[in-house]
Amino acid sequence: MNIKEIKDEFISLLKSTAREGIDYVIEDLEKLGFFEAPASSKHHLDCEGGLAAHSLNVCKAGLMLREQMIAMKPEMKDYMPKNSVIIASLLHDVCKADIYKKAVKKRKNSYGNWEDYDGYDVDYSNFPMGHGEKSVIVLLLSGLEMTDDEMLAIRWHMTAWDLPFQSAELKNCLNTARNKSPLCSLIQSADTIAANILEWKKEEE
Ligand SMILES: [Fe+2]
Ligand SMILES: [Fe+2]
Repeated sequence: MNIKEIKDEFISLLKSTAREGIDYVIEDLEKLGFFEAPASSKHHLDCEGGLAAHSLNVCKAGLMLREQMIAMKPEMKDYMPKNSVIIASLLHDVCKADIYKKAVKKRKNSYGNWEDYDGYDVDYSNFPMGHGEKSVIVLLLSGLEMTDDEMLAIRWHMTAWDLPFQSAELKNCLNTARNKSPLCSLIQSADTIAANILEWKKEEE
């Protein structure tokens, strides 16, 4: 899929939720550069349009997991509405839309010589508010209506990755959120599957 196809699918999935405020979110994502941003500076999908592609992968993995979880445990249908999976997965990483700046970087080529390549620097200065919590705040500022479960799933989507850095109080919050809302674990699992399997690439040593 090219950048335009990814953007069109991303927007049509978001609009399919008919959620209050979704048009304002799309407008603000355009302004922030979300559709051009990479998903990372040097890991998964570190290329133009990578962030939207990653978000779409998380959404597809999330919807697939949702179907399978409901098939195995039907009462999960009440805890993971389809629109909640779409909103939380597509928008979990909007915090990254404004942090990557294009830069000429240096690396060694296969002959051991230094060469320039187009890469990205990370710059948090626009709104240094964190990660999942920043995504929730940016979306609320855009005027998006979200359920508590959606906000919790977006806020805590990093779970295992930032758990060691959290205070006892925040760890308690995370465990309570996971206990209250299975959507949290669904989005976190879909994010891991997307980044580590669908977008896997062998990194140079
Ligand atoms: Fe993230
Ligand atoms: Fe992500």
